[in-house]
Amino acid sequence: MAEDKSPEEQMNNLAVNDDDDVVDPWNVSGKSETGIDYDKLIKRFGSSKIDDEVIQRFEKVTGKKAHHLLRRGIFFSHRDIHSILNLVEAGKKFYLYTGRGPSSDSMHLGHMIPFMFTKWLQDVFDVPLIIQLTDDEKVLWRDIKVEQARQMAHTNAKDIIAVGFSPENTFIFNDLDFIGQCPAFYQNMLRIQKCVTFNQVKGIFGFGDSDVIGKITFPSIEAAPAFSTSFPFIFDNKVVPCLVPCAIDQDPYFRMTRDVAARLKMPKPALLHSSFLPALQGAQHKMSASDPNASIFLNDTAKQIKNKINKYAFSGGQATVDEHREKGGNTEVDISYKYLTFFLEDDQRLAEIKKSYESGEMLTGELKKIAVDTVTPVITDYQARRALVTDDVMQDFFRIRRIKF
Ligand code: TYM
Repeated sequence: MAEDKSPEEQMNNLAVNDDDDVVDPWNVSGKSETGIDYDKLIKRFGSSKIDDEVIQRFEKVTGKKAHHLLRRGIFFSHRDIHSILNLVEAGKKFYLYTGRGPSSDSMHLGHMIPFMFTKWLQDVFDVPLIIQLTDDEKVLWRDIKVEQARQMAHTNAKDIIAVGFSPENTFIFNDLDFIGQCPAFYQNMLRIQKCVTFNQVKGIFGFGDSDVIGKITFPSIEAAPAFSTSFPFIFDNKVVPCLVPCAIDQDPYFRMTRDVAARLKMPKPALLHSSFLPALQGAQHKMSASDPNASIFLNDTAKQIKNKINKYAFSGGQATVDEHREKGGNTEVDISYKYLTFFLEDDQRLAEIKKSYESGEMLTGELKKIAVDTVTPVITDYQARRALVTDDVMQDFFRIRRIKF
């Protein structure tokens, strides 16, 4: 297993060479048409690959078939997952922590990935889940006012709840409302702030002299929920280990958190890292809320989804039908195919589609139709659940209270 890098080594995780992919909490862009080189990223970040052995261990410990996002390598990297699986084997508990930075009224399909997977983890391990909405982060980084950010946090909370979470074992909070009500959380923030120098956050996050000071302390706010003592009303001040599922762009926060944990004599949070659902235009970029034509939003209509995939989804097909029949399509770059790997659960059907497309038998139009027919019900079923999330339902998740543990 890869050892965590020292704080000094962590400073080298920013893209420094021209051929490095850029992956940080604010920018994701790959150099190749096939997308980010995730193996290279594992080396640069010093995390560990989720290989067959890890997947088999998951299946052994949970007694369940691994989720398709895990068995297909979409969740591809981890930190210390074995320590969590050891705990489970010893009959001990941990908790899950993940989050969202509310910057748009509707979330997109890419944001669903960590939440869908988190829901599966919560079901198989029967553990509490804490979800942080960093509305403060978006005030600092975007042209968004405090009131607007709070509003978006509440709308996004409804989007997240509709993935299928229950208030029985899930606590959701937005920073702008919660932190002032929970002294233990602020006290942990301060403990974290005391462990990290400006030089270190510059190295980890690339902050510069003209960044506002709120940005420089913000990482302590995303780090604090990884310590159970931040939530005394749930954990009674007990030290409980934490597992964070997220896409790999959030890893810099948790490299810092793990370094701080060691110094505060708290358990280091374990991580499961997802790769990115790519933008419609190609795998070099992640799906992102800032470009409506690059993303499928959770409130898009069936017609919009069909139009977006037909019009924008980058194709790995050949220029003419004859050429395609002869050479076949390239699933390494084809966005419709990539979306199927995220959303089509049937392994056998996926393998048949791959074979048929790569052999030239299946044409781009046919592949796009399968992508539309797969993604649309994921979203329309989701929208039916979302319609049931009223303000009252949402408020239940936000109440400061004991949840099932
Ligand atoms: P945010 O709102 O940018 O993203 C929310 C979650 O979605 C992941 N993500 C994606 N996953 C797959 N494909 C994509 N195209 C894609 N785009 C985003 C992100 O990695 C994240 O897991 N600062 C955070 C909010 C946060 C958080 C956390 C996230 C606070 N605490 C703990 C994860 C874990 C943010 O702005 O996420």
